[in-house]
Amino acid sequence: MAALISPSILSADLTQLGSDLQACEAAGADAIHIDVMDGRFVPNITFGPDIVAACKRATSLPLDVHLMIVEPEKHLKTFATAGADYLTVHYETCPHIHRTLQIIRELGVKPGLTFNPGTPVDPLELLADMVDLVLIMSVNPGFGGQTFIPQAIDKIRQTRAILDAQGSKAIIQVDGGITAATIGANYEAGARNFVAGTAVFKHPNGIAGGVRALRDALI
Ligand code: DX5
Ligand code: ZN
Repeated sequence: MAALISPSILSADLTQLGSDLQACEAAGADAIHIDVMDGRFVPNITFGPDIVAACKRATSLPLDVHLMIVEPEKHLKTFATAGADYLTVHYETCPHIHRTLQIIRELGVKPGLTFNPGTPVDPLELLADMVDLVLIMSVNPGFGGQTFIPQAIDKIRQTRAILDAQGSKAIIQVDGGITAATIGANYEAGARNFVAGTAVFKHPNGIAGGVRALRDALI
């Protein structure tokens, strides 16, 4: 399967979000990653459902919404209504993760489950059939521009093995510190969906140059 590139608007120029999204689309990006942070689960505060709805109006790319918030179950319907195509919740924030993933599916949205760098992926053994996407965090969530944590590579391998053993076709996404230098090892380990903020939006050759550099690194 080809690599899917999902630019993270955390690093976009918010004064021109609409044209940045258009540029992502023109550059051949596969989805738009929207980082929702609440200042509680993670130290930063970012976007709410209105931004998701605005992105929906500005692009036809799928919207991949990464919820870094406590009690995400309180907000699933709102983000679904706003236009999320994927809703990814953190294992660390969900005491009733099975139910939370079930609710996402019932809302007609693709469920994603993510694990922080310090969280083992073993719980996936009980949840593989509930998810369309597993996100392996390769930085501690909260900010763009951090350095890739290499232990993510082994976790991706382990995740693929768990999914394969259960016959799951869920895709593995990796998020944090993805650049032309780090993307290859992640692909080899089994990741197929790459979130990139800095490497796309701050690339010296612009958004198209950033997406191209990531794809070229995989050839
Ligand atoms: C980090 C976010 C990421 C962030 C990645 O908490 O979940 O999506 O935008 O940024 P880069 O690609 O700059 O590491
Ligand atoms: Zn993210």
